[in-house]
Formats: sequence, C-alpha cells, structure tokens
Amino acid sequence: MLKEETIGIAVLDEAGAGGIPNRDEILHAQALRKVFSSGRQQIVPLDSVHFSVARGEMVAIIGPSGAGKSTFLHLLAGLDTPTSGEVYFAGDSLGSLKEAELADYRNHSVGFVWQRHHLLPDFTAAENVAMPLLVAGEAQGRALQTAKEWLAKVGLETHAEQMAGELSGGEQQRVAIARALVNRPTLLLADEPTGDLDERSAESIFALMQRLHQSHHLTSIVATHNLSLARRTDRILQLEQGKLTPAKEVLAGTAAFVAREASAGAMTPGERV
Ligand SMILES: Nc1ncnc2c1ncn2[C@@H]1O[C@H](COP(=O)(O)OP(=O)(O)OP(=O)(O)O)[C@@H](O)[C@H]1O
Ligand SMILES: [Mg+2]
Repeated sequence: MLKEETIGIAVLDEAGAGGIPNRDEILHAQALRKVFSSGRQQIVPLDSVHFSVARGEMVAIIGPSGAGKSTFLHLLAGLDTPTSGEVYFAGDSLGSLKEAELADYRNHSVGFVWQRHHLLPDFTAAENVAMPLLVAGEAQGRALQTAKEWLAKVGLETHAEQMAGELSGGEQQRVAIARALVNRPTLLLADEPTGDLDERSAESIFALMQRLHQSHHLTSIVATHNLSLARRTDRILQLEQGKLTPAKEVLAGTAAFVAREASAGAMTPGERV
C-alpha cells in the first residue's frame, strides 16, 4: 500500500492531465490503461491516464461518445479493473484490496449514478432507494424510513410509494441520486446523469447534485456531454483518444469548434461536445 505522501510526490512529478496537485487528495489514478479486445481489434479508451481529485472537489469529465468516460468511472468505482495502472482511494490501492474490502469500497465509499438509471421498475421509489441499505444488512423498516428521508431530500416525498417504472425520466434520475447517496458515500460518481433529460430537467438535476455535493461534503466526478453544466464544476477535463486533457485547452478548442459549426449552420451553439 502506498502512503498518501508518496502519491502526492508522484502526482507533483507527473502533474499532467488532471491539473492536480493538492495535499488533500482523496482519489488518484496512476498510469491508468484499459484495453478491450473485440475480435482481432483492440480498443484503448484509457492510455496512461493520470488523475487526482481533492476532497470536496467537483470535477466534470467531458469527451465524445465512445471516448471512455463510462470505462473511466467504472475503474474509479472499483467496478472494473484496469489493464495496467492503479486507482488509489485515500492512499489505498484498489488493486491491493481483498474482495470483501473492494465490495465495501463500492458499497460504502462510492455512490454511483448510472448512465441508464438501472432502477428496478416494479419496485417502489422507496424500495429502490432502500436497496443498498438492505444489501448492507439494515432492517427493512429502518431502511425504508431512511429511503423516504432521502426521497424528501431530492424532492420526491410524495412519490415514495410509486413504482419506479411509472416515474418521469427526471424523477427516476432523482431516485437514482437518492439511491447513490443513501449509504452516505465519500465519492459521488455520476455517468451522464442528465443525458436523457430535457434542458430544464437537466438543469434541475444538476442543481440538485451541486446542492447535495455541498451539503454532504461529497467529492463528485460527473461525466457529461453538457458543457454549460460542466462549466459549473470546479474543473473540467476532456477524455479523448485515451488521454485526459486539461480544461483550458478543451474550452478554447470547444468554443472555437462550436463557433465554427454554428457559422457553418451545422449546429446551434447548444454546447454539446
Ligand atoms: N466491455 C467492453 N468490451 C469491449 N469494448 C468495450 C467494453 N466497454 C466499452 N468498450 C468500448 O470502449 C470504448 C469506450 O466506451 P465507453 O462506454 O467508456 O465510452 P463513453 O465515453 O462512456 O461513451 P458514451 O458517451 O457514448 O457513453 C468504446 O469504444 C466501447 O465500445
Ligand atoms: Mg458512457
């Protein structure tokens, strides 16, 4: 296991992609590489990615479809393993954790909002939110009570008994956020949480995430296509061709791209990247 100070030095030495150095680092990726083999073809969505997040930061990851945003978040969440390289949480290498410790990391340190919300449609909103507590062994009555408190926090107190499958897209995403946070994780990892929503719902879901980020002292990493929402985070990184690029170049490049496309009539400057 690497000590945090050791990682700090490594980060300073490599201060590349993520902007980085911060003594209050909570999450760190070191030379992360992921290779998928598909037939004879190899896909390398992550190639020597270095990344560091300070406690309390909110970071946006942008990048074109297929760039590897979901893959990256899955590795950070311990849901998948890198081909090489390492992810460290609070100084501990995920690769060195025993299976039970890794499960504990996934269930208690990380709250994950999936790109497709993954709710159980035939269970109520409250039952969906209670699920991580039940998995953790909490009694049903108490788990449902806590779930209802969380539904109130995301503005859905009147929908607790409704089947998840009957809720609107925005409401389902609120349930997914409540479910991600019900175990009081340190990290909130959200994979395009507003991807399927109209502009107004996307705005209100993002505002909700920002509010919870603040009030629950979270460290949040959000993959998004929506640049105007990404701009409201502390830091924007672009993932493209296996590399994480610092925000400044991304924004300059994107602004130029949007302007070019808009003047060519191909798209309005609606800020999708
Ligand atoms: N299990 C897998 N097996 C093979 N290839 C995969 C697998 N998972 C992802 N890939 C490939 O890795 C690349 C990155 O996929 P990923 O889903 O991480 O992209 P993304 O940036 O999240 O895209 P989107 O914005 O569309 O969600 C893609 O080319 C994808 O086809
Ligand atoms: Mg994705």
